[in-house]
Amino acid sequence: MRPHQQLEECLAAFKKTDAALTFSSGYATSVGVIPALCGKDDVVILDKLSHASLIDGAKLSGATLRVFPHNHLEKLERLLAGARGDHASRRVLIVTESIFSMDGDAAALREIVALKERYGAWLMLDEAHAVGVLGPQGRGLAAQCGVEGGWRFRWAR
Ligand SMILES: Cc1ncc(COP(=O)(O)O)c(C=O)c1O
Repeated sequence: MRPHQQLEECLAAFKKTDAALTFSSGYATSVGVIPALCGKDDVVILDKLSHASLIDGAKLSGATLRVFPHNHLEKLERLLAGARGDHASRRVLIVTESIFSMDGDAAALREIVALKERYGAWLMLDEAHAVGVLGPQGRGLAAQCGVEGGWRFRWAR
């Protein structure tokens, strides 16, 4: 309905994105978005402390799941290298929170963005605990780190 569209337009303007899509809850977002992006031929790589809804979404997608210890960039890079391998057309999705619900610390976001660029991966960033708290106008950790423009999907297929 029009009010929903207006809400999504306002959110997109606030987040400086091309578009926004609203869900009824954070859980619905996780289990809706990840299976829409990835399937059985793909790889989802999660930070170990990611919210349970993100893990459920990754499982539901049917993709191969890989987990790296919290904020462990070397392990993340090894998993990216393994997932990318010779599979240029495979979708590789990194999933992390920006401010972690369990520990209250922040993802090493600039480094993760650099890695996802290097390996042609996508990044899904759950800003549930950062929007309204961090960054200019409360736009979140991506805005604070200056990587808001990093969400350029590369449709590999
Ligand atoms: C990081 C994160 N993502 C998703 C969710 C799920 O959100 P909701 O409770 O709206 O389903 C939560 C809930 O605490 C969360 O902390």
